Amino acid sequence: MGNSILNTIKERHCKRAFLDRPVDREVIERVLTVASNAASSKNTQPWQVVALDGNTLNVLRDLLLKKHDAGDFDGLDYTYTLDPEPDTFKARARDCGYKLFELKGIGRDDVAARKAHGRLNWEFFGAPVVLFFFLPAGAERGNFLDMGQFLQNVMLGLVSEGLGSCPQVSVAAHGKTIREHLGLSDELWLVCGLSVGVPDTQALINTYVPTRLPLDHYFKWAK
Ligand SMILES: Cc1cc2nc3c(=O)[nH]c(=O)nc-3n(C[C@H](O)[C@H](O)[C@H](O)COP(=O)(O)O)c2cc1C
Repeated sequence: MGNSILNTIKERHCKRAFLDRPVDREVIERVLTVASNAASSKNTQPWQVVALDGNTLNVLRDLLLKKHDAGDFDGLDYTYTLDPEPDTFKARARDCGYKLFELKGIGRDDVAARKAHGRLNWEFFGAPVVLFFFLPAGAERGNFLDMGQFLQNVMLGLVSEGLGSCPQVSVAAHGKTIREHLGLSDELWLVCGLSVGVPDTQALINTYVPTRLPLDHYFKWAK
């Protein structure tokens, strides 16, 4: 494929292991600046982003791990998906999880190992930088749609800078704690986190690419 944008889209997959190498703040700022060219309805640009690195991130990491281990979650600020969730969605999510565990050599009944994998979310997979994406409290579907454009631009921009990332709704289950840590008010909803760093190309987990549905499963020309 000669088209560099299509190649970058294909190249972007979640990275869940990072090198112990800092990321230049200037790179993050450049990516976020370019990402803001995302489309949003009437150019409302509803997103807010807070980045953490160094000690600020380490303190939060420790705090969230403590809360996670105590089973103490604040709960998501918003409802993520349909309730009840369609069986097709559930099946794809299960398949995504099973295949990832298979790659890591974790058996389907190995609850402890599965939990240990889940816990890596609150360690931000060892990333040196984490971005938190916020919307105004009470945000509606359209605002989330706009945020999605922006988030994808950020992830693609990071790829173009040789960086990898993993979006994480899991960490948003600690929205209140994270807001308090950052000195933010309840007027913002935490949509998700994004762990960012130089991907560890030797890490098996970073080879994981969940399969995609063929085009005819989600597209047709109108007759
Ligand atoms: C909004 C959003 C939230 C996500 N939350 C998590 C998460 O909490 N933990 C995680 O490991 N992956 C998370 N993911 C990554 C998805 O599992 C991943 O995008 C999907 O399996 C497709 O894989 P790929 O992005 O590597 O192509 C999230 C993705 C999105 C878009």
